[in-house]
Amino acid sequence: MKAKFFIICSIGLLLASCGNDGRGYEYMPDMYRSPSLETYGKNKVFSDSLNARDPVKGTIARGYLTTFSFGPSQEDYLLAGKKATNPYDTNDKNTGEGKALYAMFCKHCHGPNGAGGGSITHPVYSAIPHYNDSVLLRRSGNTMRELTTGQIFHAITYGLNAMGPHSSQLTEEERWKVVLYVQALQNYSNE
Ligand code: HEC
Repeated sequence: MKAKFFIICSIGLLLASCGNDGRGYEYMPDMYRSPSLETYGKNKVFSDSLNARDPVKGTIARGYLTTFSFGPSQEDYLLAGKKATNPYDTNDKNTGEGKALYAMFCKHCHGPNGAGGGSITHPVYSAIPHYNDSVLLRRSGNTMRELTTGQIFHAITYGLNAMGPHSSQLTEEERWKVVLYVQALQNYSNE
């Protein structure tokens, strides 16, 4: 009796597994085929029918709370140079992290010690200044050696001429840590 029941069940299962659509029967199909919403597609859930939602008003995404309220202008560059302070302490850990980021984002132009001569420098492209340079700069009125915390952060954030802005590649925290390492390199001399 048991054997017969088993054979009938097996045949039933065998037949059930051969559906016309090639898939057979699925146990709880929702688990296999969850409805995926395209980011800019439409749905019937929200009144504006858009899948992409705005962040809640007045909220700031994690990691985007700004510590730097200066714009890209020359005026703000000078102001930042006077007023901005680094919220991160100078210590081995922070400077070390800055060094690792420098190797990834700056070294190919500024060279391993900030003296220029990185792998992609080219005489026609643009001159890369030495971080420990005593040449008076046009825009800052001071030398590279004297560039302040705020000026360095501003340059990394907004870029300068051939140097592109790095605010989309590095978070504020990362940029402040790179500043610490650039400041360490401001003492480097290859003379
Ligand atoms: C594509 C090459 C390139 C990359 C990448 C680059 N720089 Fe520069 N950087 C330059 C050039 C060129 C200048 C000089 C611009 C000028 O004076 O016209 C410069 C200038 C600077 C200055 C001086 C700015 C000032 O106010 O005068 C600082 C500081 C600096 N870079 C830091 C960095 C740091 C830190 C990084 C990495 C996060 C970086 N740079 C990445 C090419 C680069």
